[in-house]
Amino acid sequence: MMSRSFCGRLLALLSFFGLAVSQNETSNNLQYVNQLIGSNNGGNVFVGATLPYGMAKAVADVDGDNQGGFATDGSNITGFSGLHDSGTGGNPSLGNFALFPYLACDGDTPDGCTYPKIARKTQYDNTSLKASPGYFAITLDSGITVDMTTAQHTALFRFTFPADSHVGNSSSPLILMDLTDLSDSRQDNGTINVDSGSGRITANARFLPSFGEGNYVVYTCADFQGSPIRDNGIFVSNRSSTEVKNFTISRSINGYPLPGGAFNRFESGSDPILARVGYSFISSDQACSNAESEIPSFDFNSTQTAAVNLWGQKVSPISVSTTGVNESFLTNFYSGIYRTMIQPQNYTGENPLWQSDEPYWDSFYCIWDLFRSQNPFLIVNDPAAVESQIRSLIDTYAHLGWLPDCRMSLSKGYTQGGSNADNILTDGYLKGLTGGINWDTAYSAVVQDAEVEPYDWCCEGRGGLDSWKALGYIPVQDFDYKGFGTLTRSISRTLEYSYNDFCISELANGLGGHQGDVEKYRGRSENWQNLFDSTQTSYNIYSNNTNTGFVGFFQPKFLNGTFGFQDPLKCSNIDTNPNDICSLQNTGPETFESSIWEYSFFVPHDMASLITYLGGPSAFVRRLDYLHDNNITYIGNEPAFLTVYQYHYAGRPAKSALRSHFYIPAFFQPTEGGLPGNDDSGTLGAFVAFSMMGLVPNPGQNVYLIIPPYFESVSIKSPSTGRTATIRNVNFDPTYKNVYIQSATLNGEPYTKNWIDHSFFTEGKTLVLTLGATESSWGTHVADLPPSLSPYSGGNSTNSTNEKVLSPRWRSTFSGQGLADPAMGLDMALVPEKNVQ
Ligand SMILES: *[C@@H]1O[C@H](CO)[C@@H](O)[C@H](O)[C@H]1NC(C)=O
Ligand SMILES: *[C@@H]1O[C@H](CO)[C@@H](O)[C@H](O)[C@H]1NC(C)=O
Ligand SMILES: *[C@@H]1O[C@H](CO)[C@@H](O)[C@H](O)[C@H]1NC(C)=O
Ligand SMILES: *[C@@H]1O[C@H](CO)[C@@H](O)[C@H](O)[C@H]1NC(C)=O
Ligand SMILES: *[C@@H]1O[C@H](CO)[C@@H](O)[C@H](O)[C@H]1NC(C)=O
Ligand SMILES: *[C@@H]1O[C@H](CO)[C@@H](O)[C@H](O)[C@H]1NC(C)=O
Ligand SMILES: *[C@@H]1O[C@H](CO)[C@@H](O)[C@H](O)[C@H]1NC(C)=O
Ligand SMILES: *[C@@H]1O[C@H](CO)[C@@H](O)[C@H](O)[C@H]1NC(C)=O
Ligand SMILES: *[C@@H]1O[C@H](CO)[C@@H](O)[C@H](O)[C@H]1NC(C)=O
Ligand SMILES: *[C@@H]1O[C@H](CO)[C@@H](O)[C@H](O)[C@H]1NC(C)=O
Ligand SMILES: *[C@@H]1O[C@H](CO)[C@@H](O)[C@H](O)[C@H]1NC(C)=O
Ligand SMILES: *[C@@H]1O[C@H](CO)[C@@H](O)[C@H](O)[C@H]1NC(C)=O
Repeated sequence: MMSRSFCGRLLALLSFFGLAVSQNETSNNLQYVNQLIGSNNGGNVFVGATLPYGMAKAVADVDGDNQGGFATDGSNITGFSGLHDSGTGGNPSLGNFALFPYLACDGDTPDGCTYPKIARKTQYDNTSLKASPGYFAITLDSGITVDMTTAQHTALFRFTFPADSHVGNSSSPLILMDLTDLSDSRQDNGTINVDSGSGRITANARFLPSFGEGNYVVYTCADFQGSPIRDNGIFVSNRSSTEVKNFTISRSINGYPLPGGAFNRFESGSDPILARVGYSFISSDQACSNAESEIPSFDFNSTQTAAVNLWGQKVSPISVSTTGVNESFLTNFYSGIYRTMIQPQNYTGENPLWQSDEPYWDSFYCIWDLFRSQNPFLIVNDPAAVESQIRSLIDTYAHLGWLPDCRMSLSKGYTQGGSNADNILTDGYLKGLTGGINWDTAYSAVVQDAEVEPYDWCCEGRGGLDSWKALGYIPVQDFDYKGFGTLTRSISRTLEYSYNDFCISELANGLGGHQGDVEKYRGRSENWQNLFDSTQTSYNIYSNNTNTGFVGFFQPKFLNGTFGFQDPLKCSNIDTNPNDICSLQNTGPETFESSIWEYSFFVPHDMASLITYLGGPSAFVRRLDYLHDNNITYIGNEPAFLTVYQYHYAGRPAKSALRSHFYIPAFFQPTEGGLPGNDDSGTLGAFVAFSMMGLVPNPGQNVYLIIPPYFESVSIKSPSTGRTATIRNVNFDPTYKNVYIQSATLNGEPYTKNWIDHSFFTEGKTLVLTLGATESSWGTHVADLPPSLSPYSGGNSTNSTNEKVLSPRWRSTFSGQGLADPAMGLDMALVPEKNVQ
């Protein structure tokens, strides 16, 4: 498939003729972007034309896996539309106001064309598919080529008609605009108008968000150029009229979405016909003015060139040495980086919900996913964008009352676990983001998440806060009469709330003036301990009941303090029970989209204590090995990310490098079907980019775990300070046998810590890693380990004699009702005892 960018080809051509190419690193990196990665097999990536964070996203829409509009799954094209989301699961988003072209209508009458998308859909010529930054093109079976590019709020579609159609009366192309969207969610009163003279089509309709509550209204304004208008009108179902120029349509008939829209017929298809389509969430007038100001003269070339230049800048901060590495690694790396900037989308100026001078961003889809890699990656690669995104999150809190956990199409998306915007805010604060962020308002927002339960916590805040404060965990079958939401996921919510509270304590600590809060939220951040059942075993009920050999797992706990039971392997990757439901369904389990086994490792802030709970460093490493070696974890979903690198905390950074070198090539291939799961905005892309850079964040903390980069060297020019940080591998081996760090220097001084902080990037430091073919003692000593809330008990995983038991830490500082209510049957002595082997 065509995947190289225009710039890449241009450069290749220039170098072929031996011309000196002025070193434009921007263009150099862009040549490796393959937009079609993740276009098949569930990646659900948006593969069309867009600017970085652009609102307009133009692509062909299909009737197959169309979450991102198009997929290379061989399904049929139903139209071409200009608003999309990327990498999501579930229902497709947006895809409103699709255009569809005909060479001519049967009998040379508009009624001879086919209008409903179910009937008009068509196959296309695979070899015609082209996708490069700011560009997408495809040729339909009819021979019509449709290519497209975009500005921020405007798409420019170019319809090129085949020569053999220019015979007699039949050369009178028709282009329709449909009031439909991808998921057929249009509500009542969609309205469209076509101007009989100019052919301008304006339309608006109300639609439903793809993973959230409420609805949204979107407006469009399309102008056409390339041939005089012959006639125009509207269509309803499969009948059309040139007499009627506008109408308002109902939602559906008997649940079947009623097709309706408008069309223009043109005098001739001998020249390409351009459709310039502006979008707005404010008004049709604004859709028109967006289009007029962004693409004033229908100039395809300059619109595309502007997009290429912008993308070139956005992928320029990170350069890598290409020495010895297969080009597919470069493609994987830069395509991953590209995908981190498709969304969130910059809707500044397009927010109808409140008046504000703050930026407005949409398609945080979802924060549960993107806090883990994408947001931290953007803090490295494009901190100004993250500053703007954070300001928008805070402004959303200021006007809607809550930080979102997921947001799309101006609507509140469903919360999957904790209030993970807390993690994003803290991550940004600790890494020095400023840019006009009001950190005091940010702090109010996260404290509200921790203290105030929303009446409906489907889509914001947290549920079960009374229990959280009184009992120190989210009980299974909680009693909660104050707020309402899906009473599942009590284990994963407890773990995520614990981490959210840790992040709040860090923010409180950094901001100063909140000393009581620092203690309070640190205390609550240890609530995870309350669900640890030190006696719980794990037999593989899905395969011969093999004893995994591990004892001590999180378990659901009732209000009365008694443990319930969930099999530790339920909802793992090896759960073969087809009846197990693992997502947001109200019959779902106590762990969200994964198993207790995997969630056992989700204590990102207190790994020292967790390691002690799990039996010390050796036992911890054995357990991580078991998780990975037995396919219990699935790398295509975000909770797996950190487990690849958590060996660092047990003093075995070499094992993290080995795992990384297993997962990246095996599961993240630079091919259409090459992503192991939904990209979820660009979280998989960011995971690949960080892994290959050799610095992997523990998100929410000022910590990057070090492994050898996949390239001989990587340099990162900080967009905020202009300084360049460099990581260099000595004894670099592109076959990746030498993935063991023997020694390191930082700015020329010996460096033994197996992690580094964000000043590496902003101050432009140099990290030199000397590699070898065997595991060394580098980064293995307690002093080398990443920060942890509790102190490490000492030693490393190869020294089993020093696995001391840390005394269990029970905080008595919980505030709130019911602290020691005997009626609750609470036993404050129910402190989990660590199980020593
Ligand atoms: C077109 O591509 C799809 C998906 O990649 C594939 O299923 C189909 O076989 C291809 N058809 C041709 C003719 O190559
Ligand atoms: C394309 O549409 C045809 C006609 O409706 C249908 O038979 C076929 O299954 C569709 N192809 C795919 C891949 O959905
Ligand atoms: C559609 O318009 C009619 C007439 O103006 C109005 O009564 C009705 O409430 C509208 N429906 C919706 C869903 O806005
Ligand atoms: C709808 O069409 C009629 C007839 O062409 C025209 O008079 C009227 O102004 C149009 N309405 C709108 C909202 O453009
Ligand atoms: C734009 O036009 C120039 C001059 O004709 C041409 O060299 C360039 O390749 C075009 N750019 C694109 C993106 O097509
Ligand atoms: C290099 O790329 C930048 C950013 O896209 C662009 O503005 C500039 O014109 C390019 N310079 C050259 C020499 O091509
Ligand atoms: C977001 O969009 C606004 C309005 O188009 C623009 O002024 C601003 O620079 C954009 N911000 C970023 C970070 O791209
Ligand atoms: C399960 O037991 C059966 C019968 O003893 C054996 O054939 C099979 O290989 C075992 N499977 C596993 C995964 O151990
Ligand atoms: C605690 O509550 C659970 C669920 O109602 C019940 O099964 C269990 O027996 C109770 N334990 C005690 C000690 O009362
Ligand atoms: C894990 O899954 C892979 C394929 O995804 C398979 O090759 C391997 O045998 C599995 N390992 C185990 C221990 O089941
Ligand atoms: C960790 O184990 C290695 C190998 O036995 C040893 O060289 C190193 O000193 C140990 N570190 C600590 C902190 O015990
Ligand atoms: C192993 O741990 C013991 C007890 O903490 C300590 O005395 C000894 O020095 C350690 N051995 C190594 C190789 O670090």
